Amino acid sequence: MDQAQSLREYMHRFNVQQQEIHSSRVITITSGKGGVGKSNFTLNFALGLKAVGKKVIVLDLDLSTANINILMGNSPRSSLADVLYKKKSIWGVLEKGTEGIEYISGGIEIQDLVKLDQETISFFWAQIQELQSYVDYILLDTGAGISKELVDIIVASDETIMVTTPEPTAIADSYAVMKTVFQVSKQAPIFRLVVNRSHTYREAVETSRALKNACSNFLNLKLKTIGFLMEDVHVRQSVKLQIPFIVSYPYCEASKNIKQIVCSYLPDIDETSSIATKGIRGFFEKILFLGKS
Ligand SMILES: Nc1ncnc2c1ncn2[C@@H]1O[C@H](COP(=O)(O)OP(=O)(O)OP(=O)(O)O)[C@@H](O)[C@H]1O
Ligand SMILES: [Mg+2]
Repeated sequence: MDQAQSLREYMHRFNVQQQEIHSSRVITITSGKGGVGKSNFTLNFALGLKAVGKKVIVLDLDLSTANINILMGNSPRSSLADVLYKKKSIWGVLEKGTEGIEYISGGIEIQDLVKLDQETISFFWAQIQELQSYVDYILLDTGAGISKELVDIIVASDETIMVTTPEPTAIADSYAVMKTVFQVSKQAPIFRLVVNRSHTYREAVETSRALKNACSNFLNLKLKTIGFLMEDVHVRQSVKLQIPFIVSYPYCEASKNIKQIVCSYLPDIDETSSIATKGIRGFFEKILFLGKS
């Protein structure tokens, strides 16, 4: 049985189990250190989920270096800011990229929401609500580093995928972000880990073990690794081509890794689906609440 067929069969079984649970799950993708591969992971992971029949939207919340569109050679015509300030509908700001993947450019400072009047907020809620039953997963690509904005985004999400490389600085910075979130969040946050750019499998395992142990010993936080992405020259080449690597080089090492991550992530999320999903509306409500507090 080839990989695609086994994935399809698995997904069929998975969909049957999932039929009754439908609420969009908000997943933040972040890192401590910048440039570790978040945006590439987010986009290719989104395409991997889409390939197995999941409905996914990527929301680019990295304001300073928003580049999800660049990775697809695409220019967004509008952004979430147009929903807030020009009363555009959510469908009007939904852009289509490679292989029909849908994405929305943020274009807003999360704290801007706090300054909005009630009428604008009501309009925004109504638009956001539309996405709730439209998609399974909303992937938020974020900037790196510890800021109040990032911490709020993580706390408001249903879960967070932390991307790190094996560099000690990247590991230390990932831990620092999780520690900060852990200190401010009242509910235990759900973190999963992806180790990117390892040169060997052993290096990836050791990186994951180091972070897992630190989280369990000092934060009492169970950090689950959902996979490894090896150092692969095709990633850089695909960035240059402005075509996601899972499309331009579907059989390269990094693409195989993404498919493995999709396979290990879906059963994992199934396990945690009993934990209430706040969804996209819950996400923005929480952001508003945190922004005011
Ligand atoms: N697995 C990999 N193998 C080889 N190169 C990689 C890999 N992952 C990422 N890169 C390289 O790292 C660069 C930065 O990746 P990316 O833009 O996804 O990082 P980022 O974490 O989103 O950065 P920022 O913090 O600036 O948003 C890519 O352009 C690519 O050249
Ligand atoms: Mg990025």
